[in-house]
Amino acid sequence: FLLGYGTLHAQKPNYDESKMPPYTLPDPLKMENGQAVTSAKMWKEKRRPEIQKLFETHVYGKAPAHPKDLHFKVLNEDKYAVGNMATRKEVAVYFTKDEKQFMTVLMYIPNKRKGAVPMFFGLNFKGNHSVSEDPGITQSVIRMKPGPDGVEGRTGVFKRGAEASRWPIEMLIANGYAVATVYRGDIDPDYDDGYQNGVQPLFYKEGQTRPAADEWGTLAAWAWGLSCAMDYFKTDPDIDSEKVAVVGHSRHGKTALWTAAIDPRFAMAISNDSGCGGAALTKRIYGETVSIVNKLFPHWFCDNFKKYNDKEELLPVDQHQLIALMAPRPVYIASAIDDKWADPKGEFLSGVHAEPVYKLFGLDGLNTTKMPAVDQPIREGSIGYHVRTGDHDINLYDWQQFVKFADQFFK
Ligand code: GCU
Repeated sequence: FLLGYGTLHAQKPNYDESKMPPYTLPDPLKMENGQAVTSAKMWKEKRRPEIQKLFETHVYGKAPAHPKDLHFKVLNEDKYAVGNMATRKEVAVYFTKDEKQFMTVLMYIPNKRKGAVPMFFGLNFKGNHSVSEDPGITQSVIRMKPGPDGVEGRTGVFKRGAEASRWPIEMLIANGYAVATVYRGDIDPDYDDGYQNGVQPLFYKEGQTRPAADEWGTLAAWAWGLSCAMDYFKTDPDIDSEKVAVVGHSRHGKTALWTAAIDPRFAMAISNDSGCGGAALTKRIYGETVSIVNKLFPHWFCDNFKKYNDKEELLPVDQHQLIALMAPRPVYIASAIDDKWADPKGEFLSGVHAEPVYKLFGLDGLNTTKMPAVDQPIREGSIGYHVRTGDHDINLYDWQQFVKFADQFFK
């Protein structure tokens, strides 16, 4: 139910490069008024805000400021987790004063540490308890579209450790990294509920019943939630909040990129198989398209994005500009060769076309326009990339590359 929509095509996707319409990408270094962007300063002060605004208005939707009542509570702490190698803690991030709406951040922090440590942080699919068999993790309540019984929240849907292969906690701890995760349903459930059951209603003005066409969809709500968690990390002395990488697979990869775009406090973004609306160039029309993603997941993007169903050429932005919003911070893009739905080449090309912005900062990007062979990561510059053998997933190989990439900047 939660995964594997790849077979449910709303229209037949194109997998033939020769059938791709010719496309022109918007130039990240040209202002909307045609002026050339000639310095890092001009990028930061003029062009970057312009591009962020375009993505907010046409793609993800604008999110409000963090709630004034945002507050935190460490719920529990166990210093003997992961074979005594790590401290596990769970932190409630309350969105409301009455503490009725909150998310639970699960954290593992290496015990062998001198001072604050860098961290990987991202959303999980199947609940916090799915990332490890650790019996100390509080079970997340899984929120799915109610069936005939009208029940939305359930426990016992996913087993402990059901998603453990996607979270190599021991390896990360052994390499000196903390790791933290949140179940996305804590922020906004992943089904089209007309935006009634997530965080959006907390901000509706009198009489408002759904976000305006340029206001946050579910992906933007998840990103906003991760950004709220950063407010907590800033208060946690064990975490080096200047060295937090936001990471995600697939829909969570789209979210990771958007999170780092709206919140510059994240020092790095890592996208794994994020595809359409993530790292893949939209205008290529290869694999998943705007109309397909909007049909399968009408709640993910803002309502304005639907104007571009089968009209990708009219979009004023493309995803290389999302990658460029990371600059000068390092960004890593990962693909899987059999995951054609996510368009590996389109993901690579986003990195290629973001490079001029990094150059403006005197930084190297991918430094090549040639897609590398499988399992040959590129990670010399501030944009990293690999396409690995295999299908849509995030696995140990992917994480090993993320660690090597992060080591260059965080160690
Ligand atoms: C579907 C969807 C993708 C998404 C993926 C996932 O396949 O079409 O856009 O990335 O689910 O999140 O696993």
